[in-house]
Amino acid sequence: MEVVILPDRATAGQLVGGTIAELVGKRPEAVLGLATGSTPLVVYRDLARRHAAGELSLGRAQAFLLDEYIGLPTGDPEAYRAFIARELEAHVDFAPGAVRGPDVRAGDLVSACDDYERALRAAGGVDLQLLGIGTDGHIGFNEPGSSLASRTRIKTLTAQTRRDNARFFDDDVERVPWHVVTQGIGTILEARHLVLLAFGPEKAAAAALAVEGPVTAMVPASALQLHPHATVVVDEEAASALHLADYYRETWSHKPDWQAL
Ligand code: GLP
Repeated sequence: MEVVILPDRATAGQLVGGTIAELVGKRPEAVLGLATGSTPLVVYRDLARRHAAGELSLGRAQAFLLDEYIGLPTGDPEAYRAFIARELEAHVDFAPGAVRGPDVRAGDLVSACDDYERALRAAGGVDLQLLGIGTDGHIGFNEPGSSLASRTRIKTLTAQTRRDNARFFDDDVERVPWHVVTQGIGTILEARHLVLLAFGPEKAAAAALAVEGPVTAMVPASALQLHPHATVVVDEEAASALHLADYYRETWSHKPDWQAL
């Protein structure tokens, strides 16, 4: 695992946006794994800027969302599909139908989860998966206790996650759905490169447990320690509880120019 500590989230957005641009430059039909929440917005802004500058086309790329709420009213702007349409798709050139999320309106949700797994496999798997982290250590919506081998399925959110996410619902926790569909931890671990971003002091404890704690279902993000190519990009505040912070800084500052993330 590589841990990159950067001064601020804008710099992190440029670094990860650059990595995605490089991937798509080499492999225009790349498959991207998209995360929602406030954290990846800096990356989406950077991709939009690169596209506007004529440096990046996602016209042949595909993308899969990590997760989705169940039961939001049709057209709710906080549905993750709507979030990605607004924050990313509207500013780049994905082909129609190239961005997919789990079908949470299907009559048979269990089959819809299996269909999503099949679609991921048919696309050849995810090349680069963006991840945020919940304050309870979740990735996607894999709450503590999620099997490290889990696949796309229905989950119930914890009270902590519903409280954290109430800020997207006018601070009304009653409007935050109880249920979601999320790629499983086993599903996420199959992506070829995992890039987890964490910013701000409220993520410091979860980031430290994920990177330096034991691998445990109680901290779903700790599963990244099992992955051969995982990158964790944090700002100084989110890095504040890392024991080996100085080592990560030295590693990054001495990294050879030719070596990508
Ligand atoms: C939600 C999403 C996660 C995200 C987390 C953190 O629970 N399902 O994918 O990482 O929120 O959100 P934020 O980036 O807004 O802190």
